[in-house]
Amino acid sequence: MRDLTEENLTEVVIRKLGDTDDPRLKQVMSSLIQSLHAFIREVEPTQDEWLEAIKFLTEVGQKCTDERQEFILMSDTLGASMLIDAINNRKVDDATESSVLGPYYRASAPELEYGDSINITNEGDSLEVRGLVSDQYHNPIKGAILDIWQTAPNGLYDVQDDKQPDMNLRGKILTNRDGRYFFRTVRPASYPIPTDGPVGKMLSALGWHPNRPAHIHFIVSAKGYKPITTQLFIEGDPYLDSDAVFAVKNSLVANFIRPESDSSQNTPSNSASTLQNEINYDFHLEPTPRAQS
Ligand code: BEZ
Ligand code: FE
Repeated sequence: MRDLTEENLTEVVIRKLGDTDDPRLKQVMSSLIQSLHAFIREVEPTQDEWLEAIKFLTEVGQKCTDERQEFILMSDTLGASMLIDAINNRKVDDATESSVLGPYYRASAPELEYGDSINITNEGDSLEVRGLVSDQYHNPIKGAILDIWQTAPNGLYDVQDDKQPDMNLRGKILTNRDGRYFFRTVRPASYPIPTDGPVGKMLSALGWHPNRPAHIHFIVSAKGYKPITTQLFIEGDPYLDSDAVFAVKNSLVANFIRPESDSSQNTPSNSASTLQNEINYDFHLEPTPRAQS
């Protein structure tokens, strides 16, 4: 292994993986080395540009704390998180589509009753969210858990905003005996992802805006079914077609029904029945392989 050249270097590095026992590690590293070398051959970075790239990755690491994961933000904004999500959650039949978890999930949200509000402050444009949790054949699932979180009308999550009470706009709700869920909340707002770090600098250098369309996050789970991590978006949001993290899917865009809405405009699962801003959305879970057998 001496006098390696531009021509043979990639091959020699990959051949060295012959000493690696773990077959998956070998496959992953072989592909990574191939792609990295192919990128370098295509771009031909100068020494200064390569140093700049290393400085950027160093800053990304240095920005990470227990509360802030800049590497995930980089993965999100480059579309890598949604690609991983798509590969690992290929849609089966009518099952609800997934979307990214995002950095603001907290596992310990309070357990609430059917019809309770997750809005502790009572500020904002009130909203009722209801629907059915079923399997892919539309059989209702009783006792499914909906773990919910969202921003306040100022576009901030409780963890980003000292003025919000702890656990504001978070809750866990169970479906009732008919598989139905219902909670009250406030209309979420579109918001920018954090831009005070290297990923923010990258976005502005690229001329990409940092905004996400308004959404409500859900993890829906039930015994015998594959848990689904997803988000509901609101029809008409200006950022639906330019989400900074590429997480919008058509099937996850819900009608926001205002009391004055003409109900004939709504899809059958979205009907305006009360004098209340409302979202009606049904989740369909896929059985885990064991439950299918
Ligand atoms: C979010 O939805 O909370 C989110 C997702 C990805 C990056 C930043 C925020
Ligand atoms: Fe979010």
